[in-house]
This record gives sequence, structure tokens and C-alpha cells, in this order.
Amino acid sequence: MLKVTEAAPTAGLALSWRDLLVLPFFTKAQNSLERKLAHFLGIEDAQVECSGTAALVVALEALKTISNRKQVVINAYTCPWVALAVIKANLIPVLADSQPQHFDYCEKSLKSLVNQQTLAVVHTHLAGRVADVEKTIAVAKSVGAYVVEDAAQSLGAKLHNKSVGTFGDVGFYSLGVGKGLTIFSGGVVVSGDLQIRQALRRVGDSLPRNYLFESRRVVELFAYFILYRPLGMGLAFGRHLRNKLKRGNLIQAVGDDCSFDFPLHKVGAWRMMIGASAADRLPDFIERTKKIAEKRLAQLTKIPGVSIVLDAQDGEGVWPFFIVQMPSEAMRDGVLDRLWDKGLGVGRLFIHALKDYDYLAPFFANCKIPNAQTFASRTFIITNCIWLSERDFARICDVISEQVAYV
Ligand SMILES: Cc1ncc(COP(=O)(O)O)c(C=O)c1O
Repeated sequence: MLKVTEAAPTAGLALSWRDLLVLPFFTKAQNSLERKLAHFLGIEDAQVECSGTAALVVALEALKTISNRKQVVINAYTCPWVALAVIKANLIPVLADSQPQHFDYCEKSLKSLVNQQTLAVVHTHLAGRVADVEKTIAVAKSVGAYVVEDAAQSLGAKLHNKSVGTFGDVGFYSLGVGKGLTIFSGGVVVSGDLQIRQALRRVGDSLPRNYLFESRRVVELFAYFILYRPLGMGLAFGRHLRNKLKRGNLIQAVGDDCSFDFPLHKVGAWRMMIGASAADRLPDFIERTKKIAEKRLAQLTKIPGVSIVLDAQDGEGVWPFFIVQMPSEAMRDGVLDRLWDKGLGVGRLFIHALKDYDYLAPFFANCKIPNAQTFASRTFIITNCIWLSERDFARICDVISEQVAYV
């Protein structure tokens, strides 16, 4: 049956028409978005880039001006853009395995891979979850490496009441579509260290303007304003998803078809202003989605045999979506067969562990990452979209329970 409304795959902050009425020529756009983000994160300065990937490239290029080490350790289960950013910065990505039940590093694997060649270890907080960054810092510092905190999916998450992304030497966030706060494609890079901050600014300032790309992003942001709602998501997202699923192209279905040819340019004033206006509503939005997540989590955790990825101790994450781990790949696929194309916000995060993408395989031929591969094969995600009804959420839980009982 055709569903008229469709849940968004993640809980993102919708734009208001007021956000679009800001006038770029009368205010210092960049300052206001960067100032607001710095205030929100509780730090001195934040720097906006054209994507989270670009923010990571800027971070690595900045670190390269301070150190000549060449290797960057990354999670074997993370967004493929992370590996592409490392390669784009002419550095060598090294894959460390994850834990069997969590995307965070297996400490043994991480310790075995860091050495005097390690420029940085990228620590990742996926899905709004707070992963144990202090453990990563201890391992990285034992060999004098920097820590780059990837909080692309976790803007607003906290550990010990301090924003994630501000524990490492450098941190970055994504303002991409589907994230809490978006300018359709954008990123933020931060550092508590003045020398690194100055290097970040130098690298950021050296990026060109790209008026063609910027115009495209403005149009896309407008489309986001119009379509990011229950009646628009089918057109903006669901049609493409179902089309790709029908053809069996899972990588394109989730947007994992990443390319080395990604844009690096300055963000225009108007998008900055729109972001700054929307940023005022971010704290309330985070609180609202947290309350919804609490109720939904209570239902999910009641299902026997299923595990939900949660925060590290004393972490308080944000809740764009839930990562659910099933006891087997067959059970996971059983859930997806019934729900993925139904417009309920059930799907997959990343299709593979990094070495299993064709375009990344040549870089990781000899890596052994069994935990990350198992994690990729057993997990799926459920949106925490605010307009997904509680009835639909209960229906999702029923399907999961039936699948665990059935297989
Ligand atoms: C964990 C992680 N890191 C980096 C990125 C790259 O961010 P962007 O899509 O804004 O380039 C993403 C994208 O979603 C991500 O999920």
C-alpha cells in the first residue's frame, strides 16, 4: 500500500521560513554562525567548512603543517568519507577494528597499529552516541599522535557535561542534510589549541570560492525547506531509496557511493545566515528528540536478544536515530525485508566495513577487521524522526520481535 507520508531517516531540524528571510549583505554571516556554534559547544572558536569531509581535510592539512608523520588511524566501521578525506590529504589511512558489539575501537587493535608514524587517530561518535574518547586519547598520546574527534553525527552530545568534539586536539561536525543542524552541506572544525586553530584558519582561508557549487547548495537548501516534512519526504528521499532497493543497489540506496572528487570551497554568506538563524532552535530540538528517544528506547530494550548501541559512561548523547544490533545477519535482513521500503525510517547506516567498498578495497588489502564486518552485517537503524507516529514505532518493534522469535 502506498504511504502518503514518510518518516525522515534521521531526526533533523526543519527550516522555518524565517530562517530564509535573513539578509546576507547586512550582517557578518560567517561570524554569526561560527560564534553561535562556538557558544553552543562551549569553546572559543568554531570554523565552518563546506562539509564534514572538508572539515576533516582541513584538520589534517593543518596538522600536516605541524608534524611530518604520515599515517592516520580510522575506525574500520565508519563513514567512507572519512577514508576519502585522509587519502585526499595525501596521508595513509590505517584501519583499526571495532569492538564486536560497538563501532568504537577495539583497544587491542588500536594499540597494535599506532606508532611513531601515526599523525592522528580519528575517534568517532556515530549516531549521536558518545564513544569512549578518553581511552582513544590515552592510546594516541602514548605515541605522540594527535586525536581528531569525528562528531559528524553527534553535534550537541556531551561527555562529563562537555561537548564531544572538544576532547581531542581537533574535532569536527557535519552540517550535512539529515544532521541535527544543516545548511544542506556543511561542516565545522574546532580546536582548543591556539597553534592548531591558527593553522586551521590558514588552511580554510586558502580554499577557493565556488559560485557554481554554492548556488547548487542554496537551491538544495531551499528544497530541504520545502520537502523536509511528512508529505515531502517521499519525493525528497523515499522515491530514490525504493528505486535503488528495487535494483538491489544498496550502496546507492544509503548514499555510500562516495567519490574522491568531492568539493572543497568556502561556504557562502547566505547559507551561513540561514544556519545561524536555525541554530537558535537547536538546543530545544535536541531536548525534544531526547524525550522522544527515551520512550522509544524503553520499547526497543524490552525486545529480547536485540542490543541497542548506547553512550559510554557519563555520556549524554543526542538522538538522530538508533543503531540496533540483531543476533544474526539473517535476522537483520529479515527485519529489513519487511521494513526498509515502507517509509518508516528503518534502514542501514553504512553497508560495509570500510575495506569492503570496491573503491576503498585497494587501500586496505591486508587489513583484518572481523569485528567491524560482523557489526556491519548485523546492524540496522531506526529513525528518531519527530513525526514518526508512536503507532508506527510500535509496529517496527513488533516486526523486530517477530523476527527474533521466528528465525
Ligand atoms: C561519521 C562521519 N564522519 C564524516 C562524515 C562526513 O560528513 P559530510 O557528509 O558532512 O561530508 C559523515 C557523514 O555523514 C559521517 O557520518
